[in-house]
Amino acid sequence: MANTSTVAIIGLGNIGQAVAYNLSQSDRPFIAADRNVEKAKQLAARWGTPAQASDIPSAVKKANIVVLSIPFGAIAGFIKKYAEALQGKIMIDPSNPIAPDENGGFRKVIGEKESAGELNAASLPKDARLAKALGTLGAASLTGAAFQKPTKEVLFYATDDNNINQSVEQLIKDTGFDPVRVGALNQSIRIEVFGDLHEFGALGKTVTLSEAKEKISGKTKAIL
Ligand SMILES: NC(=O)c1ccc[n+]([C@@H]2O[C@H](COP(=O)([O-])OP(=O)(O)OC[C@H]3O[C@@H](n4cnc5c(N)ncnc54)[C@H](OP(=O)(O)O)[C@@H]3O)[C@@H](O)[C@H]2O)c1
Repeated sequence: MANTSTVAIIGLGNIGQAVAYNLSQSDRPFIAADRNVEKAKQLAARWGTPAQASDIPSAVKKANIVVLSIPFGAIAGFIKKYAEALQGKIMIDPSNPIAPDENGGFRKVIGEKESAGELNAASLPKDARLAKALGTLGAASLTGAAFQKPTKEVLFYATDDNNINQSVEQLIKDTGFDPVRVGALNQSIRIEVFGDLHEFGALGKTVTLSEAKEKISGKTKAIL
């Protein structure tokens, strides 16, 4: 079943371009969609054969896996707008619920204990499944730390649905990383900005599989 799902990357900004570039490096075909179709065509030409440029409505229709590489604040509206076409699909949510603060840093735009993953899951259309993934590193690390040898770095993910683990993990592998599931969506907060497993949180860096497992079990022990 590996690589049989059609992936569409929606929004070709920093994260969308990083994911697309990485998929092009592993020759996994993908749809590159942006509301500026001309931009999608130019970028797809750069990424070569694996990339197929598209407008957003066609991409959502054709894909089985939809990567929502758009701002957190746009996701609920996007899900509502494409609710019918998104039914039964896997949505990948890399969003971080942050905005610039007055000190040149970032602040969370939702409640301290809330996560974007859980909030976005609340607006899912029928039978759609959501995984919080591809957002645990900054865009620079997402390309710079991909396909490391001999040991790959990790991308964490969270989902409520065990049936999509394989698809999400294959996507992460094709993006050049080792996948590690942290648990259900109620663990999303750990892998969003400021979380203990985010590059811009307590983790502070990329990690390998053995380091990742240590971090996860360390926290679990602390909670117990
Ligand atoms: N940048 C990072 O290092 C980083 C790291 C981890 C996670 N993330 C998350 O990844 C997501 C994307 O971030 P980014 O840095 O790639 O942002 P970005 O560079 O600003 O790109 C956002 C993309 O989304 C598009 N977009 C905005 N609103 C849209 C809408 N309503 N419908 C369709 N497309 C829309 C934009 O199109 P236009 O150009 O037409 O506005 C643009 O192509 C965010 O949720 C962010 O929190 C970012």
